[in-house]
Amino acid sequence: MRSEGIAATGGRAGALPIRFEGVSFSANETSILEAIDLEIRAGGPTVMMGPNGAGKTTLIRLAMGLVEPTSGRITFAGAATAAPGTRSIVFQKPVMLRRTAADNVAFALSAAGRPATQADVLRLLDLAQISGLADRPARRLSGGEQQRLALARALAREPQVLFLDEPTASLDPASTKTVEEIIARISASGVKIVMSTHDVGQARRLASEIVLLAKRRVAEHAPAQRFFTEPASDEARRFLAGELIV
Ligand SMILES: Nc1ncnc2c1ncn2[C@@H]1O[C@H](COP(=O)(O)OP(=O)(O)OP(=O)(O)O)[C@@H](O)[C@H]1O
Ligand SMILES: [Mg+2]
Repeated sequence: MRSEGIAATGGRAGALPIRFEGVSFSANETSILEAIDLEIRAGGPTVMMGPNGAGKTTLIRLAMGLVEPTSGRITFAGAATAAPGTRSIVFQKPVMLRRTAADNVAFALSAAGRPATQADVLRLLDLAQISGLADRPARRLSGGEQQRLALARALAREPQVLFLDEPTASLDPASTKTVEEIIARISASGVKIVMSTHDVGQARRLASEIVLLAKRRVAEHAPAQRFFTEPASDEARRFLAGELIV
């Protein structure tokens, strides 16, 4: 059991591994994910890739417990539910509360049942490299700044697993680099990162392993280095060659 860092669990039961067993998900009678068998373990970042509509966001929502599988099951450390407070998520377009950046983080700390001390608020803002923006109204921050504030809020829970859905989708190269540095630091502190991206360069920089989704299924799940150098599936070869695989 880890005893230090922002991922310290204080003896809480875990959320990892997250295991999908024959998981299918349909909405309005449309099949979105089919027969997903996937194990997400502790370790470096798991990066999901695949074309628009492949099911990346849906898979993240299932793993976060925001929706239930239509069939099959998902277990967390062998249990049907993850221990409370062990998972956090940052959506593609985070919604800011109508208050300052610091108060957004303070609210997230309180919501997580932690004392919202000024020191903790500043530590989280600092981690997200936005301590200089503490007193600014959150909704006036730029997209990149809001994304970093959303990361600070998500970390207020001290999650074991942090889900990030396209965390740099609309950011410029400099903001993308900053957010990637923050993600790498969070990962190094022991928090499991599960993220989606369309940015192959970003996946190369951050991923420990890749999950390629295509046609409602997992086309390939492999260590990042192997995925990029010796892709095993036809879908992965075509994806890396820049071909359409929808
Ligand atoms: N609640 C829902 N009702 C109907 N269709 C849905 C629902 N949720 C998702 N879908 C559909 O399921 C498919 C997968 O969606 P999802 O958002 O998971 O894809 P994605 O891989 O994240 O795509 P993108 O790269 O565009 O973000 C899409 O065709 C989407 O329209
Ligand atoms: Mg998506």
